[in-house]
Amino acid sequence: MPVYGIGTWGMGGRMRADPARDDDDIAALRAALELGVRHIDTAEMYGDGHAEELVCEAIQGFDRSRLFIASKALGHHLGRHALIAAAEGSLRRLRTDYLDLYMIHHPSDATPIAETMEAMDELARRGLIRHVGVSNFAPARLAAAQAVSPRKIVANQAHYSVRVREAERTELLRYCQENDVMLVAWQPVEQGSAGDLLNSVAASYDVTPVQAALNWLVSQPNVCAIAGTRRVEHLRENLGALGWRMNSADIELLRSGYHDQADVSEVYPLR
Ligand SMILES: NC(=O)c1ccc[n+]([C@@H]2O[C@H](COP(=O)([O-])OP(=O)(O)OC[C@H]3O[C@@H](n4cnc5c(N)ncnc54)[C@H](OP(=O)(O)O)[C@@H]3O)[C@@H](O)[C@H]2O)c1
Repeated sequence: MPVYGIGTWGMGGRMRADPARDDDDIAALRAALELGVRHIDTAEMYGDGHAEELVCEAIQGFDRSRLFIASKALGHHLGRHALIAAAEGSLRRLRTDYLDLYMIHHPSDATPIAETMEAMDELARRGLIRHVGVSNFAPARLAAAQAVSPRKIVANQAHYSVRVREAERTELLRYCQENDVMLVAWQPVEQGSAGDLLNSVAASYDVTPVQAALNWLVSQPNVCAIAGTRRVEHLRENLGALGWRMNSADIELLRSGYHDQADVSEVYPLR
């Protein structure tokens, strides 16, 4: 999985399709692809499917086999028939034959997890998805899903940044590192880009605080990051977080320096 991905939340609308900024969104995605970003994170929820249509427009002319496209099924689409229909809907909007990663967007107790994971396996056997993942799963739920899944769960998306440390407090990070699961950090930038300590660590590497905050994530084993941006100067800055590695003393310095920040996501806590 490419360690840095571009997010699409807010593109094409939020919970409803809104075409007002389509041209900007497509341009932002194409700029990312032109700068070498290969991992695109989307979901049927974003813009009620319209984000996936924008991704489809943006990837035209790029070699699909070099892209890593991840999408997610809504929490009320986790029964076998609903999940398969949801995946087919995403593929139709993206006009692609397969997803590189397909995730459960949010946990739900309405459908037995074994049914969902068996449907995921069916999608993979049909070649419609390459890898299975989840999102916002606490470690116990992730372990329970893996226990009944015919396939390896390769990724769990969670709110994780220098400031939001729920993945550490719940030991999700450790679980992912010990079980070869990628922890895909969402909202990695906005919350993690200020503070004297971050500024001084950033200065010692001659990078910006945002670059230090992103590198702090991706320098840790099994962590990658997806950030949203419509501005190419922000994208260039974010890409400057890659290709170098913060040393472990500085990783731990930032970990302990910000340990008293949010230990539960105020956006979407792990469940
Ligand atoms: N699985 C889930 O439940 C879940 C939840 C939330 C998000 N996600 C995914 O994760 C992606 C990222 O999360 P997010 O978009 O909420 O948070 P984010 O990437 O941390 O923040 C996005 C905001 O940060 C700004 N930004 C980006 N780079 C910047 C930089 N270098 N300097 C200053 N500002 C910068 C962007 O503004 P500009 O546009 O002006 O650059 C945008 O307002 C989403 O797009 C979505 O794909 C998943």
